Amino acid sequence: MANKITFPENFIWGAATASYQIEGAWNKHGKGESTWDRFTHTPGKIRNNDTGDVADDHYRLWKKDIALMKKLGLKAYRFSVSWPRVLPTGRGKVNQKGLDFYSKLVDGLLNAGITPFVTLNHWDLPQALEDKGGWTARATTEAFVEYTDVMSRALGDRVHQWITHNEPAVVAWLGYETGIHAPGIKDLSASLRAAHHLLLSHGMSVPVIRNNSKDAEVGITLNIGWKVPASNSQMDMDSARLDDGKWFRWFADPLYGRGYPSDMTKYFTQLGGAPNGLDFVQSGDLETIAAPTDFIGLNYYGRNLHRVEDPNNGPQLFFPHPQTPEHWTEMGWENHPDGLTGILGRVYFDYTPLKIYITENGASYSTAPDENGNVPDVHRTNYLRTHFAAAHRAMQAGVPLGGYFVWSLLDNFEWSFGYAQRFGIVWVNYETQERILKDSAKWYKTVIRKNGF
Ligand code: FCB
Repeated sequence: MANKITFPENFIWGAATASYQIEGAWNKHGKGESTWDRFTHTPGKIRNNDTGDVADDHYRLWKKDIALMKKLGLKAYRFSVSWPRVLPTGRGKVNQKGLDFYSKLVDGLLNAGITPFVTLNHWDLPQALEDKGGWTARATTEAFVEYTDVMSRALGDRVHQWITHNEPAVVAWLGYETGIHAPGIKDLSASLRAAHHLLLSHGMSVPVIRNNSKDAEVGITLNIGWKVPASNSQMDMDSARLDDGKWFRWFADPLYGRGYPSDMTKYFTQLGGAPNGLDFVQSGDLETIAAPTDFIGLNYYGRNLHRVEDPNNGPQLFFPHPQTPEHWTEMGWENHPDGLTGILGRVYFDYTPLKIYITENGASYSTAPDENGNVPDVHRTNYLRTHFAAAHRAMQAGVPLGGYFVWSLLDNFEWSFGYAQRFGIVWVNYETQERILKDSAKWYKTVIRKNGF
């Protein structure tokens, strides 16, 4: 029997969701169209042509969902605001009903003793802004600041933890380079502009939030994988370095005052992504982006082992285990808890953020309710247990980890995979909107209660 693991007092145990993935009500009460509404309504973009039109119907069921969170004993809940629900065309007139929804949600959480962590951009950009260039347009940074101002004025007295963007790398590379996410653009140079404007809008928003929300903690969430060469061959090492450079350093380096990493600028230039250099970077931008923050949020899902056999054929990911559920989640992502210890140490000792939150970690397994109405999702429980322990090891090594948000509270709309992937610790029946606590949720409840396991 392993020794008991106890977390520090006041460790924040949470769960996370995102507006488009759970709310539904895509056109209710004055909400404007988002890029994800447009994208999912375009046939062929999403598996099974699923949409978030209804999703978990959380816009209607939010009180029940707060009751579930309370039952679990969650200390905090990370959710995102749908920008077009509040500002239907991105700027200008506020949709009061949309704003009221979030205000009531925050009050409901506080009444239940749950701390709200608000993410401003978890990808659902107003389509009206996309029509003017979306994140490739510099003007979108000003629109984001206006939106941030509206939200932090309205909620800043009650919300004290703010995340500007969720995974800007995914928005830039999947939204504007490969096009598998909204808005579906396939243009490397457009994606580099988008990445810059996401970062810039973050930096521009930090002082606005601080001004409207006293004593607020402000940060940004980046996704990070544990990228490892499968051998010490130069090709494997370069492949892992470039993958980390593209997905993490391109964002983390400017945020921590280092500017854009030169090896990556060279790489993107070679690929033809910067025909005029980084001409979208104006003087002062890098200082703005490097505005000091109170924490960095990290989303960790697994390891990527790099093996390059044929340099003309790009990197292949190397699979070190049999493809059984112990080792692989249904997303095809490797279950690798040590990588979480690794990324926490690496980010802390390399960038020295004041604090880190794991803003997402979890696993997709489709385990369904059995005949007794239980959901025996043992692989998810094992995944969470081993990852919590991995985070604890990093904390013992000195990493200031303040909290941990399981992805996700509810099964939900998993972007290009539609409803085919289930990450929830709570089962959602999409026909009836019934919720059932999976076994992992019951286990998580005891972890929270005992502050360890
Ligand atoms: C992250 C996203 C989140 C969810 C998980 C599985 O990249 O932030 O919305 O889709 O992956």
